[in-house]
Amino acid sequence: MNKASMEAGAFDGEGEAARPPQAPPCTVVIFGAGGDLTKRLLLPAIYNLERMRLLPTRFRLIGVDHNARSVEDYRLSLRESVQHFAKTRGAEAGAFDATAWAKIENSVDYFQGDFNDPAAYSRLRDHLAAVEKDSGVEGNVVFYLAVASRFFAPITLALAAAGIMREERDGSRWRRVIIEKPFGTDYASARDLNEQILGVLNERQVYRIDHYLGKETVQNLMVLRFANGIFEPLWNRNHIDHIQITVAETVGVEKRGGYYDRAGALKDMVPNHLFQLLSLTAMEPPNNFSADAVRTEKVKALDALRFADAKRPSECAVRGQYIGGTVQGQNYNSYREEIDVEKGSMTETYVAMKLTIDNWRWHGMPFYLRTGKAMTKRLSEISIQFKHPPQVMFRDTEVDRMIANRLVIHVQPDEGVSLRFGAKVPGPTVKLGRVWMNFHYFDYFDAAPSTGYETLIYDCMMGDATLFQRADSVESGWRTVEPLLESWKLDPYRNFQNYPAGSAGPQIADELLAKDGRAWNRMTWKPTEERKP
Ligand code: BG6
Repeated sequence: MNKASMEAGAFDGEGEAARPPQAPPCTVVIFGAGGDLTKRLLLPAIYNLERMRLLPTRFRLIGVDHNARSVEDYRLSLRESVQHFAKTRGAEAGAFDATAWAKIENSVDYFQGDFNDPAAYSRLRDHLAAVEKDSGVEGNVVFYLAVASRFFAPITLALAAAGIMREERDGSRWRRVIIEKPFGTDYASARDLNEQILGVLNERQVYRIDHYLGKETVQNLMVLRFANGIFEPLWNRNHIDHIQITVAETVGVEKRGGYYDRAGALKDMVPNHLFQLLSLTAMEPPNNFSADAVRTEKVKALDALRFADAKRPSECAVRGQYIGGTVQGQNYNSYREEIDVEKGSMTETYVAMKLTIDNWRWHGMPFYLRTGKAMTKRLSEISIQFKHPPQVMFRDTEVDRMIANRLVIHVQPDEGVSLRFGAKVPGPTVKLGRVWMNFHYFDYFDAAPSTGYETLIYDCMMGDATLFQRADSVESGWRTVEPLLESWKLDPYRNFQNYPAGSAGPQIADELLAKDGRAWNRMTWKPTEERKP
């Protein structure tokens, strides 16, 4: 997160934010050089960083993979990926910036090596030493593990064993590893992975990615809460009735059935993405903006997170699987008919749950979370539902129900913040209408070209780990969902209901809130759709 540009002028829309500094000289080594993540997101992000003039002048990029290919062929494939995937918004959309790409292309190298072969790492060490000598990158290296999770530990251990991860004590030469998700498949495996990695590296060298933290609005959560005076005094159980977090996707499992059928919606989305949104929403104000201060507060919130009925987690959660239907005009097969999914699969593609945070600020106040695939709309938002005001003054009017204020933080696709409040409907009698005050990001700020990975890659180069998960945070997320996973193992049918693709999820999810006299927010595309009283 670029703290340097968080200056007053930037927020008033009074001119350009202070330009962030260029990253220091370094090499980025990508394991999984030809993989999907590299092509779709990493290279476009690196290209966008160059367009923003944030990439170091002295920069090298080395792709590592097992198959033999020439540097020319690799460069060409990256160029094609960038042209295809580097979509940007706003004024810069569309145009391919050949100058920016040329700079990156000239710095690209390909290194053939088998991830399991120790000799490959000795060769890589010598190669890096040669690159350092020739290109003045000062020995700083980011290793990006864009590989299947089974390789996270072996690659890290092999890099360390080859002496590649050694840093200078004064910080003048650093070596960092970015690790993708999934970080473990449950509490025990996440702890084990941390133990192996931290057996050879220092925590400050490890950058565990949760790409949700690269999303602009997610970062804005901290600014909204702590750089404004009006929200924080109300941000607690005394004024808030409940909080809803929704991450709905229209896509099905696409070609990832093999992975997804073993994971399911809970493991795929909740301990990581949804809990990141939740911890930023619920944490106490950190006493400074340092990575550790922020991450410590997030972990404290996560450590206090429980299922609303801690003794019966499966009663606080519902799940479902999509069956055939239509999503925005497109026909979807049932989940069970997807490629690499078992015919009788009981894997959930939707999950919703009721949690609480057992601390002073939130005690007893529900947090409702839901996420699913093949749903009616793509929409991620955090909704803060305030308590109803007392009706006292309106008791003798036509107003039969007061309107509770609602603050909605729209994470995607319509980034912004909106506030719902009651207003008088024009006319001779007193009638209340619901109205929205909407802030759309792009009405105020120029869109920086973004895949969401730019900030994260740049931050790693800058040595700022604020937006990465610390070991304790990953473990805490898994520890929280563990009781539910356990109870599902014992009863695979409990609170499980199918839902048609293109719907808002299974009906039992509505009942989860109806039991408490509440309802999920309608899945609106834009807040303005809810305008009518
Ligand atoms: C990934 C999950 O981590 O996040 C996917 O594995 C999911 O299943 C994706 O589709 C959602 O990310 P985004 O940025 O599209 O909301």
